[in-house]
Amino acid sequence: MLDRYTYQSALAAQEVIHWRIEDIIGGEKRLDFSKAFMPESLARVEDLEFLDREEKRILNQIRGNAYLCIFGLVEEFILPFVMDQTRPHLSGDDFRVRALLQFAGEEAKHIQLFKRFRQDFEDGFGTHCEVIGPPDAIANAILAHDPLGIALTTLHIEWMVQRHYVDSIKDDQQLDPQFKSLLKHHWIEEVQHAKLDTLMVEALAAGRNEEQIMKGVDEYLAIGGFIDGGLKQQVEFDLESFERATGRDLKENQREEFRRQQLQANRWTYLGTGMTHEKVLETLEWLSPAARRKVESISAAFC
Ligand SMILES: [Fe+2]
Ligand SMILES: [Fe+2]
Repeated sequence: MLDRYTYQSALAAQEVIHWRIEDIIGGEKRLDFSKAFMPESLARVEDLEFLDREEKRILNQIRGNAYLCIFGLVEEFILPFVMDQTRPHLSGDDFRVRALLQFAGEEAKHIQLFKRFRQDFEDGFGTHCEVIGPPDAIANAILAHDPLGIALTTLHIEWMVQRHYVDSIKDDQQLDPQFKSLLKHHWIEEVQHAKLDTLMVEALAAGRNEEQIMKGVDEYLAIGGFIDGGLKQQVEFDLESFERATGRDLKENQREEFRRQQLQANRWTYLGTGMTHEKVLETLEWLSPAARRKVESISAAFC
């Protein structure tokens, strides 16, 4: 055991956090389309020199909308996965049952929160922005994998959220306060999810030999490859959305630059920030030093 987290302490922290979707969005609380939604370290729009200031802001907002969509997607597989991990052990540790049910309830709330923000985006942006999906098909494809691989993917996502907020969003004063509030409230609850996920990985790895552990790690990487395919498609959608929103007809070499640069920005946002997170690496190392080495040998491609 890594022995840093317990279900009881996670539950205690969960119980003092209270926010409702209505507290964050609705009424006067609307997105401000004169501002950026995403931090530049994730959006990486500044390097696209053929875009002017306003076009960069529009692309940044398109990336913000895709962020809402992609989080909505991943949470649709996390919710049933956590339920599946909870159901067989309802008569065991009471703190475990309550902490995991709270975790599932929060993810259901987050799914609704992201949908609510996407509606606000649709209402205010002016043109349609296509996003990958449908969520249930993506969730089913991910849920078909080895549970240890799914738990590692969930762990990756939870720590990734921590990194996005703490490293790039918290101190960025240029972002739309409304979008920033969404990311902050999401982050507050995800802090406990990351700890609970660590406990789930430990439980799922218990009793596995090295070969079975590495199978779980391979499936985590396979899910990463599947997500990467989705990101390639999302970049194409973002390019179309950008041209529709701005009325620009980019030259073919500019489109190529857009695709190359934005794919890497997406890879860093959704894959690199999780794969290189010290806490994810720590758990991989605990599973097997070979697991950590394997992930570290390929993570540079997603940074
Ligand atoms: Fe969440
Ligand atoms: Fe979460």
